[in-house]
Amino acid sequence: MQTLVLVKPDGVLRLKIGEIISRFENKGIRIAGLKMISVSKEMAERHYAVHRGKPFYDSLIKYIMSGPVVAMVLEGKDVIDITRKLVGATNGAKAEPGTIRGDFSSSIDFNLIHASDSIDSANYEIPIFFKESEIINYERVDKSWL
Ligand code: CMP
Repeated sequence: MQTLVLVKPDGVLRLKIGEIISRFENKGIRIAGLKMISVSKEMAERHYAVHRGKPFYDSLIKYIMSGPVVAMVLEGKDVIDITRKLVGATNGAKAEPGTIRGDFSSSIDFNLIHASDSIDSANYEIPIFFKESEIINYERVDKSWL
């Protein structure tokens, strides 16, 4: 199973890339794809198509294009649920301490990170950011303990 994670511009500009990646690595999740990108308008609109028409849509599109984004494909058993637990609730003010958003965000707009919320979302979102050739298959050396 795979999921898409984006460290959004606030996460990159606040120097949280390493901290965020460490949380996934420490949990035993395999990083199958990783890159820093500038999100184009077309990519932003495709990625956030489900939010079109909502009051926060225009500012969301503007914000995701406002600075660098680190995109990742994470892979593993139950990776979507495990990742969502590590990420925490959408609103940083309500996210549990110990989660990424709970520890580093008090905002719903600037919540550092995006993670696919279902298999369907992951299947839709991953190809927006990654070609198949950019997703790499390898084994973690600690796989037998994870
Ligand atoms: P993300 O997981 O990137 O998906 C959509 C984003 O919209 C969400 O994180 C929030 O940063 C942002 N957002 C702003 N207002 C809301 C809201 N009321 N409900 C959900 N998402 C919101």
